[in-house]
Amino acid sequence: RLSPDALAAGYRLEAHERIGSTNARALELAANGESGPLWVVTDDQFSGRGRRGRQWHGPKGNLAASLLITPRTDLGTAATLGFAASIALSDALGRLAPEMGLSLGLDGMDANGAGRTRLELKWPNDVLLSGAKIAGILLESASLRGGAPAVVIGIGVNVVAAPEDVGYPATSLRAVGFQGSAADVLAVLADAWLDAHRIWSGGDGLPQVRRRWLERAAGLDAPVAVRTGGGIVRGRLETIDDDCRLIVRHDDGTVTKVAAGDVHFGAV
Ligand code: BTN
Repeated sequence: RLSPDALAAGYRLEAHERIGSTNARALELAANGESGPLWVVTDDQFSGRGRRGRQWHGPKGNLAASLLITPRTDLGTAATLGFAASIALSDALGRLAPEMGLSLGLDGMDANGAGRTRLELKWPNDVLLSGAKIAGILLESASLRGGAPAVVIGIGVNVVAAPEDVGYPATSLRAVGFQGSAADVLAVLADAWLDAHRIWSGGDGLPQVRRRWLERAAGLDAPVAVRTGGGIVRGRLETIDDDCRLIVRHDDGTVTKVAAGDVHFGAV
């Protein structure tokens, strides 16, 4: 169920008891002329899609949510929506944290860091809790009839369990004490999205998104190896630019801008 605020802002909800992929469903709706804003959600997704052609696994109980929107921008700018979504996700987890007796160290909370669980954003759109992935985002786009781009922001949150053997550390909200359901997470996320979207679409939107994302970024200045379509980029993770591309600085002082890839921390 969406909040009165989300409904007032024109958002609708299509909830499925079980579905292969909420992203695939949202894209199918877009291909049939649906322009959103619409949330397609389930807590039982059996054929989830991950970034870079991977699968996204999750048991029943985890949140799979895809937001279909048709922003009035070019697709390059639309790519920054994934960053707005990861800000919304981290805000949402921050709002749920007190329920779990957790301090996530967001926005100056618990400044000395004592006893807090670190919540960080990993480029491009992962959300980490103490270094383990708790949520991922897959942005896909389709052209509506008439040419406007429809963007699908797919968000997977490990609510009740983390997938096993995925090749990276993963965790779940349940593992840190959350007793709620995927629907509870969606309710908070859909509201946090309204705020993040407002920032994104404001006059100074992209610099604001960049600033907020950087405040929570994991591994700034750390040595990284970034796997891209064109090979591996090695250096230090310096920052992101206003288009949310990753800036990697090499030992010789030059930089490479990366638009898509997988970040590995540590000198690999
Ligand atoms: C990643 O690789 O980290 C991105 C994972 C994105 C998963 C979500 S779950 C909801 C939506 N539907 C999908 O099929 N994938 C995304």
